Formats: sequence, C-alpha cells, structure tokens
Amino acid sequence: MSEKCTAIVLAAGKGKRMHSKIQKQFLEIQGYPVLYYSLHCFQESSMIQDIILVTSEDVISYCKEQIVDKYAFSKVTRVIPGGKERYDSVYAGLLACDNPDYVFIHDGARPFINEEILRRGLSAVQQTGACVIGMPSKDTVKIADTQGNVLETPDRNCVWTIQTPQIFSYALICRAHESIRKKDMSKVTDDAMVVEQETGVKVRLAQGSYRNIKITTPEDLKIAQAFFQEN
Ligand code: CTP
Ligand code: MG
Repeated sequence: MSEKCTAIVLAAGKGKRMHSKIQKQFLEIQGYPVLYYSLHCFQESSMIQDIILVTSEDVISYCKEQIVDKYAFSKVTRVIPGGKERYDSVYAGLLACDNPDYVFIHDGARPFINEEILRRGLSAVQQTGACVIGMPSKDTVKIADTQGNVLETPDRNCVWTIQTPQIFSYALICRAHESIRKKDMSKVTDDAMVVEQETGVKVRLAQGSYRNIKITTPEDLKIAQAFFQEN
C-alpha cells in the first residue's frame, strides 16, 4: 500500500443533546472514553499512516495526556482546536494534514468502526475519489415541509442512512471546502454534501454497519453498552 491515508477524528462538539456534564466523546463505556475506540481502530489499521485529532481548545492538554499518551496512540501527530460548527472542525483538520492521498473524516462519537469498514471505504475511494459509509434504511423515509406535511416518499431501496468515516481524495475535499466556504454552509450536515454540491464527482456508498451508531442522546449510551457487553 503506497498511498498515504490520514484520519481526521472530530471531537470538538459540545454534545448538547446528551445533556451530560462531561462532553459525550469523553464519557466512559466499558472502562474507556467513547473517543478511545475509534482512535484505537485507526491506530491499529495498516491503512492509516497518521491521525489528526480535532477537539476544543480547553481540552487539548487533557486529550494529549489522558488519551493520546495514556493509550500510546503514536499515530496521532497533532491535536488541534476545532471550530464552531462541525464543518469548521473538518476544515481545521484538513488544513492540519501533511498532504495525504486520502482522508478518513470520522466522528469521534462513533466508537463502533472496524477494519472491514475502513477497507470497504478505501476500496471505494480508490475508484471514485469520494466515499460515504452508510447502511440501507430499515425505515421508510418521508420528505416533509417544515409544517409536517408529507411531500413525497422516496423508494426505500434507494434510501441509505449515512455514517462516518467519509473518505475522500485530499485534493478533492480541500477544493470542495474552499469553494463552499465562500458561499452558504448553513445546510451542510455531512462532508459528502460539500463534494456533491461543489464538484462533479460522484460520491460512492460503501456499507458500514447497523452498529456503527453515533452516540448522540442518553439512550445511545445504553445501546452502545449493550453492544460492547456482547463482545
Ligand atoms: N464536532 C466537532 N466540532 C463541532 C461540532 C461537532 O468536531 N463544532 C464533532 C463532534 O464532537 C462529534 C461529531 O462532530 O464527534 C458529530 O457531531 P454531533 O454528533 O452533532 O456532536 P455534537 O455537536 O457534540 O453534539 P450536539 O449536536 O448534540 O451538540
Ligand atoms: Mg452537533
């Protein structure tokens, strides 16, 4: 494997929907902080050469000492401050990269990634330059207006729910971000949207796992605990 891959792990969010005193990425599940698990996966993967950890300014030294040094995550080359919105943190991560071929942009609040997911993502990005990890939707999805009136029901076979990592050619995602930052970013909720809107490149879907949940609200912690107890 000659291509250089960098993981950008996002942990600069406030976790408002969790309503906990400690930010959700630092809450412990089965003896380790939520953030530990995805860093561990990237650290162990031969596909990944280095990791940029993006967090909030006030917890940078905590992250360095209590996570990076404590668990010997030697691939973490930089711990940098994120921004107000997720896309600001992504952008900070992109600027901190040392010119990789591909970047794996990942939510630090998703502890259940594994080597197979990374492999499927890398294989897809090598073909297209842009890949999102996701799963076919188990539920029917409806498009509605803001008043709650249903407008349409997309064919469920074509509906996927999207997870992370999202994997891109570094040059492509940088170009897309530079371009959209000059416009309106307020509706941007994932990284692939930026590529979809700003470039002609087709984003490829690759299978994640139904377990690759994002820890968002308190019930997600219970679900995550149950998954970990099975292993
Ligand atoms: N994130 C980030 N910088 C931000 C916002 C989010 O790095 N300004 C990260 C979070 O730490 C998380 C991931 O992006 O790992 C997904 O975001 P989300 O689940 O929305 O986390 P929070 O923004 O922390 O939670 P909430 O929206 O409930 O406040
Ligand atoms: Mg958020």
